[in-house]
Amino acid sequence: MQTQTRMTHFCSADQVDPALAAQLIARATAFKRGATPSIPLPTYVANLFFENSTRTHTSFEMAERKLGMTVLPFDPKQSSLTKGETLSDTLRTLAAIGTQVAVIRHPTDAYYQPLIDEDIPLHLVNAGDGAGQHPSQMMLDLMTIHEEFGHFDGLTVGIVGDLTHSRVAHSDMQLLTQLGAKVVFSGPRAWYTPEFEAYGDYVPLAELVPQVDVLMLLRVQLERLSDAERAEFSAATYHERFGVTEALYATLKDTAIIMHPAPVNRGVELADALVTAPKSRIFTQMQNGVFMRMAMLELVCNS
Ligand code: CP
Repeated sequence: MQTQTRMTHFCSADQVDPALAAQLIARATAFKRGATPSIPLPTYVANLFFENSTRTHTSFEMAERKLGMTVLPFDPKQSSLTKGETLSDTLRTLAAIGTQVAVIRHPTDAYYQPLIDEDIPLHLVNAGDGAGQHPSQMMLDLMTIHEEFGHFDGLTVGIVGDLTHSRVAHSDMQLLTQLGAKVVFSGPRAWYTPEFEAYGDYVPLAELVPQVDVLMLLRVQLERLSDAERAEFSAATYHERFGVTEALYATLKDTAIIMHPAPVNRGVELADALVTAPKSRIFTQMQNGVFMRMAMLELVCNS
């Protein structure tokens, strides 16, 4: 079955409504079961990663190869961006030589907006912008929750940790609430800033853990903390106050699952031994990410 919605660029959770989320989950699930992709070939894609990545970069490239796309190697550090070329001119160059799709991770929030406004002549897929959005992580998270429970309505999802700096939290809370899930937050109180209040209450961690169906942990993004915050940060203190210890894990519902976008700071937001615990779906998320990115790229390539 071919996807029906048209989407020239896939950059933000704002572009996804419950119907499109359901369509993409169904298509990604079909890919997981062996469905054949349907995109025009040849289709050329370049992955431009201006921030480090293990999962998103390799997962997009795996998805692209499974779709039959041709992947152009591109390293921003080896490109003329280092000589002052603008991102727009780099993308226009890639388009001029025949590239149809650019997958981009960039440290600037909403870097994609000026490019869309100037009608950049290729498809943009956002692989994460600063502390803004991470739509492919959001979609693979939704797929993983749907695979586990078969629905979103009535589920309680606890999002815990470095909320302020998390593009995952920003994307996921938008769609989860639209899909009928109840979202609650925990972690350091200072990171529960007013933007989160519209989506859910702050609940102390020991109260939150026993009530959730999904415990979604977030990495403490040390690279985005101020020098003063980094100097004050203690992994052991964080783990004791805001991390999931074996004792807290024991208070989860029998049916609850733990998710984390990874990379995990083992022993900080989650006890080392719990990364692969029976309730952990962290590596399932990564597996689902390939199929969800196939569905997202197929949608864009057919628009
Ligand atoms: N979850 C995620 O975005 O991981 P990477 O930073 O390794 O891509």
